[in-house]
Amino acid sequence: MFFRISLVLALFLAVSHAVPDLDEIKRNLKKNPNHYRDAPTLDENTVRLLKVDYWFRTESMLYDDLDHKEKDPSTVIAGNYTFETLHHDVEGGMLGRISLTHCKTGNCGEPSPIYISFRQGGNNVESVFKASEDSDASWNFLYGIANTIYTPQEYGEGDEQTVDTIYGRCRVNFGRPEDKRFRRIIDKCELGYGLNFTKFEGIESVTYDQDVWYTQNTKVDADIIMIDAVEMLAFRSPLHEKHGFHVESRTHVEIHNRTRVFVTRYCEDTVPSAQCAEQAFGAVRVGGKLYDNVKIGQVKPNKLTKLIGTYRRHLNDMGDSHICEQHPLLYGQIVQEARSAKREDWEAAIRYPENDHVLSVIASSLGSVGTAESVTTAREVLLGNSPDHLDDLLFGMSQSSSSNEKWHKQLMYWLGSLNKESEDYWKLANTIATILRKRCEATSSSLNSCNKGKETIVNKFINDLTAPGVNDKVLEVLENIPVFGSFNIAKKYICTEESADIQKAALNVILAANKNLYETQLTHKLIRVFRNTCPQQTPTSHSQLAIDILLKCVPDHQNVATLILRTESLNPDDQEKWNYLYKAIESSGERDELKAEFWSRMRQFKVFRPNFLHRALQADSHVHWQNIADASGFNLFSTATAEFIHKSFKRSNFELSLKKGRKDHSLFSLSIDTEHLDQFVTGSASSTSGTPEGSVRIGVAGHKLPTNHIFKGSTDLLSTVWDADGRTHKVFEGHIPVRNSRVSVPLLSGLTVDVDSIGAITLRVLASAEVSLWNQRSNAKAEAYTSGSLHLTASLYQESQHVRKIESTISALSTFTIDTRAIFESLPYDFCLKTSNNNVDVKQKTVIEEVSHKKKTYNRKRVHPGVTYRLDDSTIRQCNNYLEQFRL
Ligand SMILES: *[C@@H]1O[C@H](CO)[C@@H](O)[C@H](O)[C@H]1NC(C)=O
Ligand SMILES: *[C@@H]1O[C@H](CO)[C@@H](O)[C@H](O)[C@H]1NC(C)=O
Ligand SMILES: *[C@@H]1O[C@H](CO)[C@@H](O)[C@H](O)[C@H]1NC(C)=O
Repeated sequence: MFFRISLVLALFLAVSHAVPDLDEIKRNLKKNPNHYRDAPTLDENTVRLLKVDYWFRTESMLYDDLDHKEKDPSTVIAGNYTFETLHHDVEGGMLGRISLTHCKTGNCGEPSPIYISFRQGGNNVESVFKASEDSDASWNFLYGIANTIYTPQEYGEGDEQTVDTIYGRCRVNFGRPEDKRFRRIIDKCELGYGLNFTKFEGIESVTYDQDVWYTQNTKVDADIIMIDAVEMLAFRSPLHEKHGFHVESRTHVEIHNRTRVFVTRYCEDTVPSAQCAEQAFGAVRVGGKLYDNVKIGQVKPNKLTKLIGTYRRHLNDMGDSHICEQHPLLYGQIVQEARSAKREDWEAAIRYPENDHVLSVIASSLGSVGTAESVTTAREVLLGNSPDHLDDLLFGMSQSSSSNEKWHKQLMYWLGSLNKESEDYWKLANTIATILRKRCEATSSSLNSCNKGKETIVNKFINDLTAPGVNDKVLEVLENIPVFGSFNIAKKYICTEESADIQKAALNVILAANKNLYETQLTHKLIRVFRNTCPQQTPTSHSQLAIDILLKCVPDHQNVATLILRTESLNPDDQEKWNYLYKAIESSGERDELKAEFWSRMRQFKVFRPNFLHRALQADSHVHWQNIADASGFNLFSTATAEFIHKSFKRSNFELSLKKGRKDHSLFSLSIDTEHLDQFVTGSASSTSGTPEGSVRIGVAGHKLPTNHIFKGSTDLLSTVWDADGRTHKVFEGHIPVRNSRVSVPLLSGLTVDVDSIGAITLRVLASAEVSLWNQRSNAKAEAYTSGSLHLTASLYQESQHVRKIESTISALSTFTIDTRAIFESLPYDFCLKTSNNNVDVKQKTVIEEVSHKKKTYNRKRVHPGVTYRLDDSTIRQCNNYLEQFRL
């Protein structure tokens, strides 16, 4: 099939090269018997070439919505152009020239001719040249026409290929669906070569495709007499049906004259076509099939300092406590400009005194850049000026979309220069762990090489960290990079004589690791932890963590279930542990049908029939899985686990995650851990008690921040309690970029489109606690103010003239609340926990700007009502008891 197609195409372009076909000779002689006698005699320096005149019309439009398409303006360019063949070389290459001869619409500009060398037979573009007089090659309809005719496919590699094109990597198909009709389709493109970052795959869909039909002369010669092309680019989002834009272009080309010319040859036929372009026509190469040096996008000045000013004024106007969709929107724009900002821009922004209260934004956007230079700027300029913005800088780094290896090296040098005793060392190590984990997770082959210990920098990081000895601090850092190396270290500490703290931290690393790393040796150790048969007495927290890990192994490791269920007895050793196990099995089944099915089959075996005793357990530890929302293929859910000991709170973990396809993303997590709190509540010091301790670890968008020790020791606890007077404290504030993409697309019609797409989430967590020792009551509340924006700008340009622009923004705003109340007059104390979110306000805005700068704005708004989440039944029981206290 391919062979035939290229053969016919060869005729289409090689007409003048070969001997004229017989029919044509006869026809010409019939018209004019002297036809061939009139022609100049061919000597060895004369060559017969071809000149073909075409008329063309291209039309381009940019619109926001199909409903508006009819009324929207379009840009038409029409006129005539000439295509000339200039050279054939012995290698099968050819040189052609395309020049404008007449402009019908008056808007063609004055484009210089372009030269193109291509491979005969397949029409494969090899080199593109601008005319010598053209100082600056910018995309225009002549390049568009060349791109319509010449294909980026590789010569001789088949009719369907996936290749690099000017658009990005695309599928290109060439075929002949009808007699005398050829068709080229380019689709399935990974658009753009620049930055293309999407944190949650699928929040924005990008499609590009084109369909070109070539019609061959049905009568005598095999010329292509007509071309029709349709091209479409669309950005959409499943989050809102009105978000996005479409660009459409149509091209029509028709032959109107065809002449053979006899000229003195321009180059010897041994000269390759590309060389002929340069030596005979003084043409200048502007690239190959990627049209590399043809200017496509518009160059715009850097707006970093300007945008930081806008952010600052917004905060000034609205006050510090305010949060709205402007925050993520501006932050997303700042991050995009930050990538191309120079050191002077950063210096100006950092040193400008009024910027003091937006330094946290400056610091985190500098962190997001992710280059070696940005680290130098941060250390020399930012931290030199304001060392207290280290945390913001590090958080920005943890959320950076960069995978620059020089950046990774620079961070390692920085870490190497810090004292291991300093807090900064641990903060930086904790951030580098997340950055290197992303490097590992970038592709399945990089993950493989990380897990096989072939990624030198990852090995070095883990070795340097663990060489002086492993403690719980080291393991907390490894939790952010739970690849094989970390997993293997953590595994060594389980079920040993090591301290309980280290063992617990090691279990957390294993829990964070991918279940594919789990093997039999590990599951056996975990079963011993679960059964309390390790060298040391196993605390309930450890058994519960072991359960979390073991349940991830089911059903891949079938014997795990058997080993767990075999320990069931009529006289459970630890009611909290067993209660936790049953709740965990139940919630893993709610989350995953396969697991539900597996456990129900296990229970059908006679030995494992439910003994019904577990319903009578007197315990409160639980796992609760909750589906929050399902929309557009995204599933938002939460998992909450809690451990209670003698009816008082011990430990909890709350995680909010987003699932798309098979991939889970952790959005937010909050782990609270306490030791020996019961002693404080009861006032009795039993022999097993130690110092009361409490710690909190927050995770934001896949990065766990360093653990925050909120109190250690009774004095500390008391002062924390005295401080807990109901005042609101800011626990966390930060921005998470979720989309960052910039692409310029050259259209077949000769126009170009610049697209900027940015998205970010702003999160502010406020907490207040009120503990009244007098009333023996406590109220604690955490509120997560969340705001997200996705912002898209598409500008259509004809050369550098702005034709039309569409801006489309979706934003959402809501607050999640976790509210706990307790009365701790006596044990067991009454306790109630509620999770809710208030209304989710979703706004969509489209602004369309015409050439005349006239703007039209469309605002759409919807509200999804707030929800209070269904509680776990043990929590309902606790809340009922709590409320009971208030009944008269
Ligand atoms: C341009 O093309 C049209 C349509 O075929 C033709 O009628 C006209 O003569 C052409 N004009 C020039 C200047 O070549
Ligand atoms: C970015 O990458 C995705 C996935 O590879 C691809 O579908 C998309 O076309 C690319 N380009 C842009 C501008 O999003
Ligand atoms: C066709 O092109 C030739 C050579 O450029 C010119 O002499 C002739 O007048 C053209 N014919 C038409 C119909 O435009």
